[in-house]
Amino acid sequence: MENESQSNANVAIIDLDIQDIEGIGPTTAKKLKDAGIISVMDLAVASAEELSESINATKETAASFIISAQKLLRETNVLDKEFVTADDALQKRRSLLRCSTGSYALDDLLLGGIETQALTEFYGEFGSGKSQVCHTLCVTAKQPIEAGGLNSSVIYIDTEGTFRPERVEQIARARGFEPTEILKSIAVCKVYNSSHLELIVKDLGKYIDDFKAKLVVIDSIISLHRAEFSGRGTLADRQQRLNGMLHKLIRLAEIYNIAIVITNQVQSSPDTFFGDPTKATGGNVLGHASTYRIYLRKSGENRIAKMMDSPYHPYSDTRFTVTEKGADDIEEQTPKKGSKRSTTTTSASSKKKEEDDEEEEEAQQD
Ligand SMILES: Nc1ncnc2c1ncn2[C@@H]1O[C@H](COP(=O)(O)OP(=O)(O)OP(=O)(O)O)[C@@H](O)[C@H]1O
Ligand SMILES: [Mg+2]
Repeated sequence: MENESQSNANVAIIDLDIQDIEGIGPTTAKKLKDAGIISVMDLAVASAEELSESINATKETAASFIISAQKLLRETNVLDKEFVTADDALQKRRSLLRCSTGSYALDDLLLGGIETQALTEFYGEFGSGKSQVCHTLCVTAKQPIEAGGLNSSVIYIDTEGTFRPERVEQIARARGFEPTEILKSIAVCKVYNSSHLELIVKDLGKYIDDFKAKLVVIDSIISLHRAEFSGRGTLADRQQRLNGMLHKLIRLAEIYNIAIVITNQVQSSPDTFFGDPTKATGGNVLGHASTYRIYLRKSGENRIAKMMDSPYHPYSDTRFTVTEKGADDIEEQTPKKGSKRSTTTTSASSKKKEEDDEEEEEAQQD
């Protein structure tokens, strides 16, 4: 069902021309093209502010072009209608694609894996496993949908220089997959500064189309901005630029029906967001834009993942580990496998008990 509606949508996108949009003639089309906006999709995911600057028009005009592009996508059924019944909305949510993280326990926390049409943020201290989860997703995304993958390639945006193809190769082999095809299906982009990252995000729609990616990883979203905008005076600017990128990412995830995973390093606890005076501002920007936020932390040999912010996941946590297979289940927990993709949730009271047990355990470990 999903595949059918997706392929219909793809046909519609190919047939659409930017001049099919109300109010856009050859002159505007040329201006848009010069600004790098070639397709109706490019325009639909643009931000009014950026667009007004790049085509030298008022913000209202730019916004009206974007709205018209989205309207055209709705009329051609690429985008959902503005109002849908809750029943249709539920139907649509049921047809979301989910990609396994490599750990059944972590998948359970996410009610079946990383979702398309959403932005998922993993945040935590250094060594908490953020990049390992990202590397594992590169392998699982290539797997067929029935096997918990997205049957697709991956765009990996590496801002920290920590992407390791050898690690992907190792994870693939350890999971019994031939690595060659998997490695070929990962488009890696090494990013050197915040402006470069913003530029890549701005043009991401094109890359998603070109590589036919259903998963985009940005590891990490904020480190470059954090390093470059450190003085108090520049913070507002930094937040605004981050905000712009995150909202663009959410629009891309929804419109292209892809999963976007971002990572964010924080020091020690989620309360001290960046371990510096910017914590509240930075925290808010990411907190509001990410659809799902998962806090990772080390616990001895293992990792604890907590669902911190989600419109529908229950507040809960789980444990997983990192092995040669990448993100993986802790051995004694493997019975969890049976509950993969289940949507049953633990009751609040038993959850509370588990949490207490966990705190106790941790206190013993620490
Ligand atoms: N091949 C492997 N086998 C087992 N564990 C591994 C392997 N490779 C990495 N790890 C584990 O993963 C940890 C590194 O995790 P990761 O790189 O994901 O951290 P991170 O959260 O991305 O940190 P940072 O914020 O510094 O980027 C290592 O300390 C190690 O415990
Ligand atoms: Mg990392």
